[in-house]
This record gives sequence, C-alpha cells and structure tokens, in this order.
Amino acid sequence: MMTTRLATDTCSLAEAGRLLAEGALVAFPTETVYGLGADATDPKAVARIYSAKGRPSFNPLIAHVGTVEAALRLGVFNDDARKLAATFWPGPMTLVVPAARDCAVCDLARAGLDTVAIRVPVDPVARAILQSAGRPIAAPSANVSGHVSPSEAQHVLADLDGKIDAIVMGSASRVGVESSIFACLKGDTIQLRPGAVTRAEAEQVIGRAIAIPDEVSETSPLSPGRLASHYAPRAPLRLNALEVRPGEACLAFGQEIPPGATAALTRNLSPSGSLEEAAANLYASLRHLDSLSPTGIAVVKFSEEGLGEAIFDRLLRAASPR
Ligand code: TXA
Ligand code: MG
Repeated sequence: MMTTRLATDTCSLAEAGRLLAEGALVAFPTETVYGLGADATDPKAVARIYSAKGRPSFNPLIAHVGTVEAALRLGVFNDDARKLAATFWPGPMTLVVPAARDCAVCDLARAGLDTVAIRVPVDPVARAILQSAGRPIAAPSANVSGHVSPSEAQHVLADLDGKIDAIVMGSASRVGVESSIFACLKGDTIQLRPGAVTRAEAEQVIGRAIAIPDEVSETSPLSPGRLASHYAPRAPLRLNALEVRPGEACLAFGQEIPPGATAALTRNLSPSGSLEEAAANLYASLRHLDSLSPTGIAVVKFSEEGLGEAIFDRLLRAASPR
C-alpha cells in the first residue's frame, strides 16, 4: 500500500477528514504525540488500527473529537469529569467515563468495556481534521505496538510507512508524551496514566486527592493498555545510571553528565533542567540513540515531580523486561 503524504493546508486537512470518514487509516499530529486515526464508529476501520500496529485487541482506544460538546455527548460525566473537562479541554488530557447509552464509539474501539476514553486535542491541525471528519476518531499513538511513541512525522513513517493510507506531515509534537488519563467512574477519580496535565493540577480542580491504582495486569478492565513493557527502543535501558559503561549511550538531563559518557552517544533531554523541554525531546532522543545501535542506554536519575511523573513512567516501561 502507498502511504499518501498530506500537507497541513486547509484543503489537505479537509481531505484527511474525508479519508477518515470513508474508513481510511490516517496518521495525524496532536500536541501530545502523533495518532493513528480511524473512524471510531466503524468496526472495520478500527480493526485495521489493531492490525497495522500489531496491537492486542483487548486494549481499548481513545475517541478523539473536535469539540467539548461532541465529547460530552459520548459519555456520562460526573462532577469531577465535568470540572476536568471544563478546565483542561481542549488539551492533553483523556477522560474515561461510563459510555452514554447511545455512544457512537463502537464496541471494538472500547474493547467491549462499558466505559469510553475521550479526548479533545488542542492542536489546530488535529482539530481541523476532526472537524472535517465529523465523527469520533479512534487514535492510539502511531507506532508499532510496544515501540517508542512518535513525536514527529518521520517517526510514524519509520514504523508504519506502507501500512497506512495517509499521514498528515505536521510539525513535532509540542508536549511530546501522551495525554494524562483520569478515570471518573463510581467513587473517586483515579489517574490511569500520568501526562502533561499533572495529578496536582487535576487535584486542584476537583478539590480532592486523585489516587493511582496499583500497577494493574494487562488484562485488568481498569486500565487494560498499561502493559509493563511499552515505549521501548531496541537497546535495553538502564535507569538511574551513575556512570556510562563502554558501548552504552547516555540519556542525560540537566548539567551533570555521568562519567563515561561520550558526546557522540549522548542526548541531553534538557541542559537547563526543564521538564517541559525534556518531555518534548524524550521520544526523538530515544529513537536517535537507538539508531546508533549502542549496547544499552544509560538513563540518568529523574525527578518524579509534576511532569517528571509522566517522563519517569515512560522510562520505567521502556526499561521493563520485554
Ligand atoms: O496522547 C494521547 O493520548 C495519544 C494521542 C494520539 O491522542 N493517544 C494514545 O493512545 O496515547 P494509546 O492507545 O497509545 O493509549 C490509550 C490508553 C491505553 O493505555 C488504553 O488501555 C487506555 O488508554 N484506555 C482506552 N480506553 C480505556 C477505557 N475505557 N478504560 C481504561 N483505559 C482505557
Ligand atoms: Mg501508545
């Protein structure tokens, strides 16, 4: 299959939306990472996402819509969900809520659950495509299942060129890690995945603590997609490294470069120590270091505060046994 490259002018974005509405697989940029979109109301289109990515079909997908109003129609929003939606949408946050009785998102996209994951991206290119499609679009990250997520169009092509119908060639994703996911079901709101909207920010909005469920198994209905090994480069990762061993690459942060690091095999996520910058550079840096075929990647110690929670979460999964 030939993967069509689409530009980001108005006409091309309308075309991307039309292709999606016709059942095509179209990768597109969002502020978090690139998504691999398909019509969330069409099980045949959704099935193609699972096969292009090699993704287990018990792992449900996020439904993306262009407006908050469209989002509110898909699910049942309790007080917490309403407050979070009003504050952080459009933006890098996903809410898991009970599916509305007439929820348009098909069973396959929801992996048979009676809940639905919803997101309203803020990226203008993503919004134009969603408006043109005029229906919820299921979109996981546009990478081969288990591999490093894509924050640039070239990352998508490296994984999926020839396996998808089209890609919108936008710029690098501003945030660089996937959306935060909060589940607002019965009882307390919980965080299923850390991301750009930090737990502390969300707690401030709802006025109480947000718990993190115990690391759940891959078959848990609570968070079926949180596989232990995920976001992984080929080279094994070694976390909290105090030194870099011969043959290893180094993923650094801030001013202190561990002994043994060589310039050619080092990427610094943010020399100034900015977590925002580090998140934006994370996946491109992992892909770059991996392309140098090191024996491993030594990762310096990271703060787990604020956005650091999301970065550390991704590193932990990238490092976990395959
Ligand atoms: O930033 C993002 O969220 C990106 C962009 C493309 O929007 N998308 C993304 O999708 O990260 P994906 O498929 O890689 O991750 C979606 C996560 C999975 O861990 C999945 O299990 C979880 O959301 N999820 C989806 N529906 C769910 C549900 N009903 N209940 C619990 N978890 C759900
Ligand atoms: Mg993913």
